Amino acid sequence: MKALLCKAFGPAETLVLEDIASPEAKKNEIVLDVHAAGVNFPDTLIIEGKYQFKPPFPFSPGGEAAGIISAVGEKISHLKVGDRVMALTGWGSFAEQVAVPGYNVMQIPKSMDFASAAAFGMTYGTSMHALKQRANLQAGETLLVLGASGGVGLAAVEIGKAMGAKVIAAASSAEKLEVAKAAGADELINYTETNLKEEVKRLTGGLGADVIYDPVGGDLFDLAARSIAWNGRLLVVGFASGRIPELPVNLMLLKGAAVIGVFWGSFAQRQPQDNAANFQQLFAWHAEGKLKPLVSESYPLEKAGDAINRLGQRQAVGKVVVQVR
Ligand SMILES: NC(=O)c1ccc[n+]([C@@H]2O[C@H](COP(=O)([O-])OP(=O)(O)OC[C@H]3O[C@@H](n4cnc5c(N)ncnc54)[C@H](OP(=O)(O)O)[C@@H]3O)[C@@H](O)[C@H]2O)c1
Repeated sequence: MKALLCKAFGPAETLVLEDIASPEAKKNEIVLDVHAAGVNFPDTLIIEGKYQFKPPFPFSPGGEAAGIISAVGEKISHLKVGDRVMALTGWGSFAEQVAVPGYNVMQIPKSMDFASAAAFGMTYGTSMHALKQRANLQAGETLLVLGASGGVGLAAVEIGKAMGAKVIAAASSAEKLEVAKAAGADELINYTETNLKEEVKRLTGGLGADVIYDPVGGDLFDLAARSIAWNGRLLVVGFASGRIPELPVNLMLLKGAAVIGVFWGSFAQRQPQDNAANFQQLFAWHAEGKLKPLVSESYPLEKAGDAINRLGQRQAVGKVVVQVR
């Protein structure tokens, strides 16, 4: 089978397409014939050796995929050959086949095509967990989403609306904000041109945002921490800006507010039933047309490095997908 390989840590240009042996299903695994693979920010980090996981060389990047099961390990009973599924792989999805533990595999609803399914799991799974289990977002509350046109950010905008919140989308350009507006955002903040803190204050009548969803970190986190409402929840989702911020905790004392970590992969592993319930809700919203995963670009397998660069160079909106078959 063909796979795009990382043989040493480095930029996306160093990835190489090669023919390698097909994987076999160990007893708790399935083998997936990959049709589409989703590109996520961790793919930009894992090839550079900057991610929390460092797979042994050579490995394929690609943290999630959708396709058809071609082999099933002897201990797997809930899946069978021929099932249409989406899978969280961590890495290995930028290949024609990937072996995945059965607990990381989910059936795709009939209404969802492979590209949408490859664009769905990581972003919607993360944002649902963040807003439901971590923030306990309530209808009528104000949700501020940073990086609101990106993968997890755009999912947070849609889920926030589905949960009945007033959503303020914040992003770095007018074009990106248009994407967030089309996904249902009520208010828009361009944080390249305006001061985030002042704008949040203006849009909330001085109260601040009840829940802040931050996948960006850096300077934006510093401003967001000063834009939170009484009893607010500040969700630490990621650091796409490249800087892990530090927090003067008196800010949280003064607002009776909480800073809350979000780690969806670990949640899915530790609380599989809660994660499955989240996906039942997400699939129902998708069927009702409330969630519309935006696949803005797709690339063939041999160009998957270019796809990774779109995220690394801050150019992607919604989801970029690698179309393998
Ligand atoms: N905690 C979890 O469980 C979990 C799960 C999945 C992802 N994540 C994390 O969430 C973050 C976003 O992931 P994603 O897949 O949604 O990425 P993405 O699609 O590339 O979105 C990231 C957004 O961050 C903003 N950004 C600001 N500075 C940037 C920079 N220097 N380079 C790139 N983007 C920059 C961009 O929006 P603007 O240009 O509008 O600022 C961009 O839209 C990552 O840090 C990822 O590791 C966390």
